[in-house]
Amino acid sequence: MAKIILTGDRPTGRLHVGHYVGSLKRRVELQNSGKFDKIFIMIADAQALTDNADNPEKVRQNIIEVALDYLACGLDPAKSTMFIQSQVAELCELSFYYMNLVTVSRLQRNPTVKSEIQIRNFEASIPVGFFTYPISQAADITAFKATTVPVGEDQLPMLEQTKEIVRKFNSVYGDTLIEPEILLPDNKACLRLPGIDGKAKMSKSLNNCIYLSDTEEEVRKKIMSMFTDPNHLRVEDPGKVEGNPVFIYLDAFCREEQFAEYLPEYQNLDELKEHYKRGGLGDVKVKKFLNAVMQEELTPIRERRKSFEKDIPEVYRMLKKGSDEAREVAAQTLSEVRASMKINYFDDEELIRVQSERFKD
Ligand code: TRP
Repeated sequence: MAKIILTGDRPTGRLHVGHYVGSLKRRVELQNSGKFDKIFIMIADAQALTDNADNPEKVRQNIIEVALDYLACGLDPAKSTMFIQSQVAELCELSFYYMNLVTVSRLQRNPTVKSEIQIRNFEASIPVGFFTYPISQAADITAFKATTVPVGEDQLPMLEQTKEIVRKFNSVYGDTLIEPEILLPDNKACLRLPGIDGKAKMSKSLNNCIYLSDTEEEVRKKIMSMFTDPNHLRVEDPGKVEGNPVFIYLDAFCREEQFAEYLPEYQNLDELKEHYKRGGLGDVKVKKFLNAVMQEELTPIRERRKSFEKDIPEVYRMLKKGSDEAREVAAQTLSEVRASMKINYFDDEELIRVQSERFKD
């Protein structure tokens, strides 16, 4: 069986380092591993509209930002098909059929939907499109016969829902769809990077993100202002590393070799943590190290982004080409789905023959 990746992001803002460690970095590694037959990376504008219906301009503006972030991170159109969700109309038709296989109560139990309803204060005024987006996400994944979906752990309930739809579809209409596997980041710190304010999640509205496109100075300022252990007031005080964003970021970003280069008094992160816990290690020193580590990772990304920004029409052409290609693949799956559901009436010679028999006296 072909190994196929599909994943994507909502274009509601520029991508940040949480997206990077949680998914983007891995995608690029997977892309370059040569182990996959096809890779589809989707800019999920239609999904973004499910809770931004009154702000389509925001979605429209951010498509190019996300595309630039992809290219900056090393996603390569020669190896990965990058496309825009709304340009693949077949996804809507698939969703429409899948809707018959999912109950309202099942959607209400979807933990991601549940928590997003809360965050967005939707309560009963939730848009139907938003409520049903797990179904549309199942269409995104199955349309490309994806076997592997690299995403953050917040997407686990979406994958569960997709698998259920696949099983239900295949059991009702016969084997047609492929059950996907989620691929989570293997470094635990990368599962969910907190905001620089220590809040559980980086989010644009909380203004606590470090963006991939931030300048060197912006990144430095954000790191130096980062929340740490509030009880670690003086250098001598013992500090906590659990739940301390500076150390979580180090867990996510730093490599052992970087100690020799930037902080040779320590062999590795464990030693640094031990010293912090004992007391006698100041936040500023740790933050400066984190800054060095993160700049090393972010500088090449920032520079590549700058070079792609020089030819924006080319980026749109790349997305158009990707969308055309994605559409062809989705159309093929849709025609198989229609055949399994036996709603391909005009291709079904057997149907036409049987019906003509029936009407003969
Ligand atoms: N829900 C994902 C997010 O919020 C975006 C997305 C849409 C997606 N369709 C997908 C991710 C299919 C993986 C597979 O970031």
